[in-house]
Amino acid sequence: MGELFLKILFCLFFLRSSQGGSPYMGYKEASSFATTASPEGYDYIIVGGGTAGCPLAATLSKKYSVLLLERGGSPYGNINISRFENFQISLTDTSPGSPSQAFISTDGVINARARVLGGGTCLNAGFYSRASPRASWDSELVNESYPWVERQIVHWPVLAPWQKALRDGLLAAGVTPINGYTYDHVFGTKVGGTTFDRDGFRHTAADLLSSGDPENLHVLIHASVQRILFDTTKGDRPKAVGVLFKDENGDQHRASLSSSGCGDVILSAGAIGSLQLLLLSGIGPRGDLEKIGLPIVLDNAFVGKGMADNPMNSVFIPIKRPINKSLIQTVGITKMGAFIEASSGFSHSCESINCQHGIMSAETYSRMLTHVPAHCNGTQIGQLSTVPPKQSTLEMARAYAESKATLPKECCRGGSILAKIKGPLSTGELGLLNLDADEGPSVTFNYFNNPLDLQRCVYGVRTIEKIVRSGSFAGLIDDGAYSMEALLNMSVRANVNLIPKQTNDTKSVEQFCKDTVVTIWHYHGGCQVGKVVGKDYRVVGVNGLRVVDGSTFIGSPGTNPQATVMMLGRYVGVKILREGLGNEAEI
Ligand SMILES: *[C@@H]1O[C@H](CO)[C@@H](O)[C@H](O)[C@H]1NC(C)=O
Ligand SMILES: *[C@@H]1O[C@H](CO)[C@@H](O)[C@H](O)[C@H]1NC(C)=O
Ligand SMILES: *[C@@H]1O[C@H](CO)[C@@H](O)[C@H](O)[C@H]1NC(C)=O
Ligand SMILES: *[C@@H]1O[C@H](CO)[C@@H](O)[C@H](O)[C@H]1NC(C)=O
Ligand SMILES: *[C@@H]1O[C@H](CO)[C@@H](O)[C@H](O)[C@H]1NC(C)=O
Ligand SMILES: *[C@@H]1O[C@H](CO)[C@@H](O)[C@H](O)[C@H]1NC(C)=O
Repeated sequence: MGELFLKILFCLFFLRSSQGGSPYMGYKEASSFATTASPEGYDYIIVGGGTAGCPLAATLSKKYSVLLLERGGSPYGNINISRFENFQISLTDTSPGSPSQAFISTDGVINARARVLGGGTCLNAGFYSRASPRASWDSELVNESYPWVERQIVHWPVLAPWQKALRDGLLAAGVTPINGYTYDHVFGTKVGGTTFDRDGFRHTAADLLSSGDPENLHVLIHASVQRILFDTTKGDRPKAVGVLFKDENGDQHRASLSSSGCGDVILSAGAIGSLQLLLLSGIGPRGDLEKIGLPIVLDNAFVGKGMADNPMNSVFIPIKRPINKSLIQTVGITKMGAFIEASSGFSHSCESINCQHGIMSAETYSRMLTHVPAHCNGTQIGQLSTVPPKQSTLEMARAYAESKATLPKECCRGGSILAKIKGPLSTGELGLLNLDADEGPSVTFNYFNNPLDLQRCVYGVRTIEKIVRSGSFAGLIDDGAYSMEALLNMSVRANVNLIPKQTNDTKSVEQFCKDTVVTIWHYHGGCQVGKVVGKDYRVVGVNGLRVVDGSTFIGSPGTNPQATVMMLGRYVGVKILREGLGNEAEI
């Protein structure tokens, strides 16, 4: 009886969610591999069921057997992922089973990587906007691939008041023309698509799996790949033949490519995961690999170099009464290389703790503060707990919490306007800290090392100043009397990263940019086309191995990359089918 009731609830839940792409329920726990593994092996083994891996797996499964290995769990039935209003909860969840794995780059910027079927599309702000064309892409196939994604999971937003105010402010600040509602990357001000439907329900890359062929598509969750296996005995190049992975109980399995086929292992584990796996599998700079005691499969000095993260700087706009939540809907695309976006209202529920700055989400917990409602006391989300234990002293936590506590409360009730820098031009690197695939590597981005990045940020912050001065937020902000310096001051005191602050942060916009930099989670670039992979996304120097995800980008595509990363998964899938099967690809 109870079970039937649950099943009915479950169905209602998914019927409601299936207005766009329908949920994919065909995944299994990784331990099931012990009894269900195909004895012949698989045509394609895809590592990472994320933003690129899901559309790629669905597409290849139309003609080939595909094993998709995802280290995280399922997004379905988790309201922290599916509901718009819970946006910040998953992102700041630091528990071991969290869909978001926190890390801190050596720059002192708090960051996160996805660990869930559907990847970053389960955690992000939902904004959907295409990239401008790239020379290495077949633009006709690009134009076929975006709509395949859009038909299934993309919606047009109902413009929130905060987003209307941003639109009007951008126009007043000269970010013209107004381009209306469009997916295209065009200069001026526009409203983009969203993966949240009108009921506030999130659609993700995992939904794209439901358009695969269920006979050919094998999806395992909690399958954590440890390394790629190579055959170095035949021919003159190493050939990828399979992967080793651990299941949810820690037991190890070996998945193999079918010996008859000419398929590949494809890494779609993201800008950090794919690199970490290449290095752990012996593909990378010889010196770095030797230092950590890894046997070399292929010496490639470029692996892990050129890592980049687009700096994001936010200006918090305080208001005195609560405002409706909104995530990115409007964007200003300036010719000077700064993108302007905004969010509002992620601050007045218990989950949002004392002073949740929406997409900043670098918050500490409420227990130490005196003005927290009793029923919220002890809420322990916040990324401070991700600081390595030795540095995470009680004093540090208290100082961090106090710095938030003295912020005007209305600041936390408002919203923010943010600048993301195009590119960026500053680059860093990724290196292994140890041989454990489940632990994060060391990541450095060197934000603002390149002076042009800093100029772009200054331009962005000055544009935000013009927007604030335009009065377009007047109806939403009760007290319009804040000077820009006071606004910058609050943003500095919000203490959003672990970078020491300077006394001239509000006097010098350059210094403000450097000291309040956070991530917009669009890091990329350690596995670039032309250096680590070719135009066909095959890893140069070995056979049977490709990388298809954001790690291959030089520069973050569009304003926000999820559209392009999903497109890329579809694009490469179709290309492989057509090149391998010609007319028989039927796609
Ligand atoms: C959602 O988040 C809340 C608050 O952090 C937590 O108590 C709950 O367990 C989470 N739910 C799931 C399904 O993870
Ligand atoms: C692809 O679509 C864009 C508009 O989104 C258009 O400008 C371009 O000409 C198209 N390219 C091809 C080859 O059809
Ligand atoms: C805020 O959201 C509520 C509930 O969704 C809605 O009824 C109200 O009209 C919204 N307010 C504004 C100003 O949009
Ligand atoms: C919150 O809980 C702690 C103990 O867990 C207690 O010392 C503190 O007084 C509580 N604060 C409030 C505002 O209830
Ligand atoms: C900025 O904040 C500091 C304290 O951190 C304060 O002394 C100073 O007066 C503030 N300046 C403005 C313009 O609000
Ligand atoms: C701000 O002050 C710091 C410390 O005094 C100094 O190193 C830095 O150059 C100053 N920044 C600017 C842009 O003047």
